[in-house]
Amino acid sequence: MLSPSSRKRSQDSTPADSLPKSFVWEQIRHLLSAMPLSMAGLALSSVAGGFAEAGVLAVLAETALLIAKHQSDIATTLGPVRLHASIGALLVLGIGLALARLALGLVTSFIPARIVTSMQATLRSDLFDAFTRASWNVQSRDREGHFQELITNHINSAIQAYSAAAALITAALTFLVLVISAVALSPFAALGIILVAGTLAAVLRPLGNLGQRRAAALSEGWLAYAGGVNEAVRLAEETHVFGAQAKQRERLDAFIASFHRPNLHVNWLARLVSTVYQSLIYLLLVVSLLVLYYAAPANLGALGVVVLMLVRSGSYGQAVQSGIQTLRQSQPYVDRLRAAERAYRESAAPTGAEPLGELKTLELRDVSFSYDRAMAALKHLNLEVVGGETIGVVGPSGAGKSTLVQILLGLRPPTSGEYLINGRGVGEYTNESWNRAVAYVPQEPRLLHASVTENIRFFREIPDDAVMRAAIDAGIHDDIMRWSDGYNTMVGPRADAISGGQQQRICLARALAAEPALLILDEPTSALDPLAEQLIQDSLMRLRGNLTLVVVAHRMSTLEICERVLVIVDGAVEAFGSVAELLSCGGYYRSAVAASLTAPTTLARLTSLD
Ligand SMILES: Nc1ncnc2c1ncn2[C@@H]1O[C@H](COP(=O)(O)OP(=O)(O)OP(=O)(O)O)[C@@H](O)[C@H]1O
Ligand SMILES: [Mg+2]
Repeated sequence: MLSPSSRKRSQDSTPADSLPKSFVWEQIRHLLSAMPLSMAGLALSSVAGGFAEAGVLAVLAETALLIAKHQSDIATTLGPVRLHASIGALLVLGIGLALARLALGLVTSFIPARIVTSMQATLRSDLFDAFTRASWNVQSRDREGHFQELITNHINSAIQAYSAAAALITAALTFLVLVISAVALSPFAALGIILVAGTLAAVLRPLGNLGQRRAAALSEGWLAYAGGVNEAVRLAEETHVFGAQAKQRERLDAFIASFHRPNLHVNWLARLVSTVYQSLIYLLLVVSLLVLYYAAPANLGALGVVVLMLVRSGSYGQAVQSGIQTLRQSQPYVDRLRAAERAYRESAAPTGAEPLGELKTLELRDVSFSYDRAMAALKHLNLEVVGGETIGVVGPSGAGKSTLVQILLGLRPPTSGEYLINGRGVGEYTNESWNRAVAYVPQEPRLLHASVTENIRFFREIPDDAVMRAAIDAGIHDDIMRWSDGYNTMVGPRADAISGGQQQRICLARALAAEPALLILDEPTSALDPLAEQLIQDSLMRLRGNLTLVVVAHRMSTLEICERVLVIVDGAVEAFGSVAELLSCGGYYRSAVAASLTAPTTLARLTSLD
């Protein structure tokens, strides 16, 4: 978990720096290719709406002029159009055009909503798809809360890009139609509109750049904050015990404070751009009117229309500007999501072609593994196991046992060396047959928030009787039957019905349920009382010979069922042999056994009781 201050460095290299400059066009192109029909509908309705609006403006201006002159008929030219009409006909035409614009407005508001909703669903489902395909190596490197933040808040912020792109299209096309209409009426007016819009775009560009940089810093801030929140929730119990509530609050407040400025700037800039635009446009409108008055004073009706069009173009120009601003501020979010999705997808291990049948041999050939370049967690491991053997793994804390388990499960490819099953690289087998063949009980049991049955089944097709058999073998069946809803009892993180040992046995049942060929247990009895441990020991004894069993254990008693025990010290094999051989040759195993023997005084007391 990064502290707020340590994030400073990473903020400097936000992904926005590496983004293509034409982000706005890229988003529009993306929408065009993702939803061509909707985009075509949006463009058509925007253009038609623009013309309807231009018509309404023309009718308004001419009618106002008629009323001002106390006339009832009009004979005028609006650009290329010669108009002869009564005031009544003009008003009917105006109402018709206004209604048409309303109908088109319904379309131009519905289509962006549809685009945003469907893009949001697509982004969420694509990102989750990529995450589930990613290698464990990449998934396990994510900062705490990172993925959760990406798939919730970051997608919400990124989706603003699509919303803004859709709004931008409507605004830009309507603006264009008004410009075209203005050209027809008065080329001077059109020139005025274009000049005004161009000047404002140039003036506001630096604000856009600044907003984009601040949004990138904010995106980084949200990720760190999400990590802090996740950690605080995970450690809530410890926080109570150690009375660390105040410090936790301070810590999260520090996260919030660390991105207060970019947050303020992003929010302010988003509003500032519209305000600046509005103020400047009135200024420039007055200037344009003066120019128009002196350059083309002939037709008062046309001048009125031009004035109205200038005002409306100003609004659409402002909408274009704020669309661009929103798009640019969404850019860091879009980029981060893309980078994450790319990293997840690129890490996905391709499935092999060979179906894995019976597991005959398992071999590690000169296998080393490093989490980072600095230090190897496993060094030049050589190991040969015959199918059906029961192997124990023992070693001091941090020796590399869980790392070895992850290699054996195929979760992490060795940094160097080979992992062979039946003489072939493990990657040559189909993922499906490999997943069916291996099972695992992790060091820390992790449950779904679901029924006991669903927890044991774990998304696989396993019939109820096999679920119950697995529960019996794992020594949890009797406990389950005592719970109010039996196998339908809801369990899961923070469900208070079950203890750590019961969780561990549910995980063991999960591992046994599909009758695996290779079962790996990472300290399966660490949370069990001696009687529950004996139950597990008995079921492991019954399983012996039916499958290849690898048991990582701190308790020496667990290793008694193993035919051979691998001793790992400091990432390297210290010894590999039967319990008797290991006892005779000394080293870590012998000293661990000696340390685990019951204290002599307790033994003496027990003997005297007998
Ligand atoms: N995800 C990780 N990233 C970086 N280093 C790690 C990671 N997991 C483990 N390590 C390091 O690799 C080494 C071996 O760790 P590992 O978890 O395999 O030990 P272990 O033998 O299982 O210990 P324990 O008995 O305490 O469970 C340790 O030095 C540990 O700090
Ligand atoms: Mg471990």
